[in-house]
Amino acid sequence: MSTVSDSVPVVIIGAGPAGLLLAHLLDLEGVESVLLEVRSAEYVMGRIRAGVLESSTVELLDGAGVGDRLRREGMEHRGIHLQWPEERHHLDFVDLVGRSVWIYGQTEVTKDLMQAREAAGQESHYEVSSVSLHGLESDRPSVRFVDSDGVRREIVARAVAGCDGFHGPSRPAIPDRVQQIWEHGYPYSWLGILADVAPSTDELIYAWHPDGFALHSMRSDAVSRLYLQVDADDDIANWSDDRIWTALATRLGDGQHGWHLTPGPVLDKGILPMRSFVATPMRHGRLFLAGDAAHVVPPTGAKGLNLAAADVALLSRALAEWLRDGRTELADAYSDTALRRVWRCTHFSWWMTNMLHRQGDDFDAQLQLAQLRWVARSDAAAAALAENYAGLPIGY
Ligand code: FAD
Ligand code: PHB
Repeated sequence: MSTVSDSVPVVIIGAGPAGLLLAHLLDLEGVESVLLEVRSAEYVMGRIRAGVLESSTVELLDGAGVGDRLRREGMEHRGIHLQWPEERHHLDFVDLVGRSVWIYGQTEVTKDLMQAREAAGQESHYEVSSVSLHGLESDRPSVRFVDSDGVRREIVARAVAGCDGFHGPSRPAIPDRVQQIWEHGYPYSWLGILADVAPSTDELIYAWHPDGFALHSMRSDAVSRLYLQVDADDDIANWSDDRIWTALATRLGDGQHGWHLTPGPVLDKGILPMRSFVATPMRHGRLFLAGDAAHVVPPTGAKGLNLAAADVALLSRALAEWLRDGRTELADAYSDTALRRVWRCTHFSWWMTNMLHRQGDDFDAQLQLAQLRWVARSDAAAAALAENYAGLPIGY
C-alpha cells in the first residue's frame, strides 16, 4: 500500500483539551496545524472528566474568543466549602485572593474548541490508528498514521506537539537516556457519579470523613457530580446506586445543621485511579509535550485540565515566535517554564489529596484535622489554598 505524504508547520497528536486549544491558539497566531485523534469526535466530546476552570484558564479562553458560552452557561463560584464531621467552612477565594473559579465541564470546553477548529477550516483526522513519530532529532520530524478510510499517511512538520494524554505514543518516543520519570501512587481511587438531580449545595463541598473523602461537585443547576474515596482495587460492581448515595450522605453530613443531600438518578458511574506523574524534560528535539502526556495529578486540586491549558498557552506563543518569526528563545525555554507551574500544581494536588483522604492511623487523622482547622481559621493558610486553587498566573 502506498503512503500519502503532506507537510505542515505543526502536527498535533491528540484532540483532548491540550490539543484542541493548542490548535486554536496556533490558528489565532497564523500558524497552520494538522490535528490527529484516535477516537471519534463524539467519543471525545462525551468523555466526562474535569469540571472546574481556574480564573487564568477562563481568561485564556475569553482572550481566544471561545469563552462566550462559558460566560453564559457556566457557574461562577467565589470559593469552596471545606468540611469534616460537624463542621463546614466556606473559603471565599474572591475575598482572599481576588479570583474566582468557574464550573464548566470538560465536555463543554471540548465542544466549544471543536467548533472553533471547524470554523477555522483546518485539517483534523479523527479515528486514526497506528500513529508513530519519526526523526524528532532532525529538523524534518514526521508523524505516520492510518486515517479513518484506511489510507496510510505521513505528515512532515517543523514541530510535533504531543498532546495525546497519559497513554499516547508521544512520551514513549523520547529515548529513556534523556527522559526522567517522577511518580507517586496513592492507595485509593475515586468513585465518581454524574446524577440527574439539582446540586444540594451552592458551591463545591470537600469533605474529610473517617470513612473516607467525599466531594460534592456539579455540572449545572440540574446535574450533580459527586465522588467517594474507595480502595484502589475496588470494583464498581460492588457499588449499587443505593450504596453510593448512602455513603455520600454519611460522608457529606446529611442531617447536620439542617443540611440534606438530595439523591437522584445516576447517569454515569466509574472508578478513577489516582497518581502523580511528571516526565522531564517536556521537549525533545522537535517534539513538545503538553498536558497529561507529560504530567498527571490526582484530581483533588482540580488542576489536570487547567495545567493542560497553561502548557499550551506557553507552547502556542513559543511555536509562533519560532516558526513564524524565527525567534527560538521561548521554544528553548518551554520545558523549564512549563515545569515550574507543573511542579507547583503537582505539590498542591498532592497536598490537598493527603489532607483530605483517610489513610494511615488515628495519629495521621488527627494531623489531617489539625491542618483542616488551620486552613479554615487562618486567613494566611486559607489564602495559600485559595491562591493555588483559583490558579496562579500562566507564566508562574
Ligand atoms: P486528554 O484529555 O487525555 O487528551 C488526550 C487525547 O489524545 C485523547 O483524546 C486521546 O484519545 C488522544 N490520543 C491518545 N493516543 C493517541 C494516539 N495514538 N493518536 C492520536 N490521539 C491519541 N481533572 C480534573 O481536574 N478534574 C477531574 O474530575 C478529572 N477527572 C478525570 C477523569 C478521568 C477518567 C481522567 C482520565 C482524567 C480526569 N481529569 C480530571 C484530568 C483531566 O481530564 C486531564 O488532565 C485533561 O483531560 C488533560 O487534557 P489533555 O488534552 O492533556 O489529555
Ligand atoms: C468535578 O466536578 O469533576 C471535579 C471538581 C473538583 C475536583 C475534581 C473534580 O477537585
